[in-house]
Amino acid sequence: MAKKPTQRLIGPFTQLLTLNGLPLKGPLRDSRLEVIHQGGLLVERGRVLEAGPYSALAENAADAERVDINGPAVAVPGWVDAHTHSCFAGSRARDYALRNSGSSYQEIAAAGGGIWDTVGKTRKASQAQLTELLLARCQRFVADGITTLEVKSGYGLSITEELKMLRAIREAGKYTLLDLVPTCLAAHMAPRDFGGSPEAYLEQVARELLPQIRKEELSLRVDAFVEKGAFTPEQTSAYFSEALRQGFELTVHADQFSTGGSAVAIGCGARSADHLEASGPAEIEALAQSQVVAMALPGASLGLGCGYTPARALLDAGGCLAIASDYNPGSAPMGDLIAQASILGAAEKLSNAEVLAGITFRAAAALGLSDRGRLLAGARADFNVYPTDHYNEITYHQGRLKPASVWKNGQCILDTNAETHA
Ligand code: NIG
Ligand code: FE
Repeated sequence: MAKKPTQRLIGPFTQLLTLNGLPLKGPLRDSRLEVIHQGGLLVERGRVLEAGPYSALAENAADAERVDINGPAVAVPGWVDAHTHSCFAGSRARDYALRNSGSSYQEIAAAGGGIWDTVGKTRKASQAQLTELLLARCQRFVADGITTLEVKSGYGLSITEELKMLRAIREAGKYTLLDLVPTCLAAHMAPRDFGGSPEAYLEQVARELLPQIRKEELSLRVDAFVEKGAFTPEQTSAYFSEALRQGFELTVHADQFSTGGSAVAIGCGARSADHLEASGPAEIEALAQSQVVAMALPGASLGLGCGYTPARALLDAGGCLAIASDYNPGSAPMGDLIAQASILGAAEKLSNAEVLAGITFRAAAALGLSDRGRLLAGARADFNVYPTDHYNEITYHQGRLKPASVWKNGQCILDTNAETHA
C-alpha cells in the first residue's frame, strides 16, 4: 500500500508575506517586509516546515501532497485578535444611542447601564447559551481570518458567575476551529450587589476565584480595568501581586479615560497595557522603555466616538504596538479587526508593515505566544489566503476584502470557493 505523504505543499501564492525578520519593537517601513513572489508553504503536522519559492519547494519535496492555489492569492499569517470580550449575552444598542445623543460612557454606567447592564443579561444566560453565542461569534471571526482569539470573562462579577463564563469559554474552545485564549476579568468593576468595598471584592476574587481557575485550568491570565468608577492603581497593584504569586500572567485595561493604568502594567510586569487613548508623552515614553506591549483598540474609539490610541507616537518612541478589536457589546460592538486596524492605520499614519505586525506577531507577543504570527519554520501553519495580487489591497479595502481561505495548523478551516460551488 502506498504510504500517505505527511507533508503538504500549499501554493503557489502570488505573494507570500512571511513577516519574518521584523523586530518586536519600534517603527517598521514596508520595504522591510519579506515578500516571496510565487511562494509556497511546506507544512507538516500543523507546522510550517519551510516558506519559500514554490518551484524550489516542489522540487525538493516531490512526495508532498499538493494543495493547489489558483488565481491571484496573497498569503499572510493568521490574524491574532488579542483583546476581546466575545462572551456575553444581550445588546447595548440603547447605550450606543444614548451616547450619540450626548450622554458619556461613564454617565450611562453610573445610571445602571454600561458594563453592569451586560452583567445582568449574562448572569441570566446559562453556561450552554453563552457557549452557543460565543461559537456563533467565532464563525464570524474565522471568516475575517482570525485564527487566535483572546476572550475575557468580566460580565459575571461573582465567583460563580465568573466561573460560568470561563467554563463557557473553555467549552467553546473544544468546538471552534480557532484557538481561544481565555482571560479572567473579574476585576472589570466592583459589582453593585457585593456587600463590601472594592478591596474586599478583589480579596475575595484572589482568595476564592483565582485558585479555582488554576485548579480547573480555565485561564492563565488576569486582567483589570484601572479607571475612575472601576479600580484604582493601588487596588489593582495589590490584587495583581496576589495573582502573580498564584502564577498568572497580567494584562491591564489602562489609560482609557484617565492615566494611571499603564504605570500599573509596567510596575507589575504585565504582558500588555490595552486602550491607552488617554496616554500622554510620559506614559508613551515609559511604555516604550518597557517590555509591555501597547495595545491599541480602535474599535472602542469608533464605538465611543473618541480619539485613537497614539499609535504613531508609541512606535516612534520605540514601543511594541499591537492592535485588537476589543469586541464587546458596549464600547466596541463592531468586532471587525481588519476594518479597525486599517482605519487606525489611516488615522495614525501607520505603514502596512506596522498594521500587519500589530495583528500578527506583536499581538501574539501580548499573549505570550511565540509560535505564531510569522510564517517561518517551526511556527504554526496558521494563515489566510486573500483573493488579490498585492498585500496593499488588504488594508486598502478597510475590512471589505475577506480571505478566500483560512488555514489553522495546516488545515483549511474556511474555503469560500468551496461554499460558493457546494
Ligand atoms: O474594553 N473598558 C472597559 N471594558 C470594555 C468595555 C466593556 C463594556 O462596555 O461592556 C472595554 O472598552
Ligand atoms: Fe476591553
